[in-house]
Amino acid sequence: MISQLESLYQNFLEELKTQKTQAEILNLKADYIGKSGKISEVLKNLKNLSVEEKKEVGPKANKIKDDIANDIANKLQAVEIEEINQKLADNKIDIGLRESVKTTGSRHGGFHPRTLIRQEIEDIFLSMGFDVLDGPHIEDEFHNFEALNIPGDHPARDMQDTFWFKDESSPEGKKHLLRTHTSTIQVRGMLSRKPPFRFIAPGTVFRCERTDASHEMVFQQLEGMMVGENISVGNLIYFMKTTLKEIFKKDVEVRLRPGFFPFVEPGFELDIKCQVCGGKGCSVCKHTGWVELLPCGMIHPNVLRAGGIDPDKYNGFAFGLGLDRLVMMKYGIDDIRHLQSGDLRFNEQFKTY
Ligand code: DAH
Repeated sequence: MISQLESLYQNFLEELKTQKTQAEILNLKADYIGKSGKISEVLKNLKNLSVEEKKEVGPKANKIKDDIANDIANKLQAVEIEEINQKLADNKIDIGLRESVKTTGSRHGGFHPRTLIRQEIEDIFLSMGFDVLDGPHIEDEFHNFEALNIPGDHPARDMQDTFWFKDESSPEGKKHLLRTHTSTIQVRGMLSRKPPFRFIAPGTVFRCERTDASHEMVFQQLEGMMVGENISVGNLIYFMKTTLKEIFKKDVEVRLRPGFFPFVEPGFELDIKCQVCGGKGCSVCKHTGWVELLPCGMIHPNVLRAGGIDPDKYNGFAFGLGLDRLVMMKYGIDDIRHLQSGDLRFNEQFKTY
């Protein structure tokens, strides 16, 4: 009987190899160890054996039954895993839409050139040890003006045509505004850290002004600030030049001239040779051949003081890069209004895949 059971087990193993689905495997199980299965049939004759024989055959028969049950369980598991893998392969979800674009020809998105340049500049500054900060679009007078050395009656307020919110709680009706520059984040950055520090802060700014080829009401700037001991104009020029070289991947002609901003002293305007016309003169550079790109300077002591920093111990530089102008220079775009026209024919030229 033992050899009968063993050869049944061998047959079972052979048959198991050829079974592919869960149903087939479960049928095979019933065939062998089900109530009227082949093994169970043989074991019905157990009662005819002597006590001695039973002692020998019994455990052996149980072992074969257990082995079959184990083999079945293992095979079921293997088949299940295979089925899951197959399902995953069949139902592959393409979240990037790239595969389906190839097959259906449908449109896919890409980064806006502003985003591409912003990411590139963030990487450059991160590699030079700068943090990247953010700040609110709706600001108060303190962050947008006062802390930046522009008191209420200062004529410099007129330089920045401001969108004010009607504020019933204030006697003049003016308190909150849409930030006119990212310099607001200088103040927030200074108040939330201790020197030495360096950070940049890209963002959208708002000006109530007429639009033309080089002016928009809503545009992007990137503020930068470095505060420490013994920082010089030389440091400022080094960081500005390095950044421009990294962005343009070539030496671009720049010029530095004095510029007035209440929050810096001395203040500079860093201009770049117009990359749209090559310096010949066009609507973007207002026919001067140069574009104001990077106003900057050494931080005014009053600004440091408003940010809780002792100007006798620390100093630093700040800059306010015109991100949209930079995008225009880098890609030779001749009208700033293209940037937020929402025209996909424009945006699609910058797709990176
Ligand atoms: N906030 C100035 C503006 O929007 C730009 C600027 C000039 C920022 C000089 C600076 C700076 O940090 O040092 O007109």
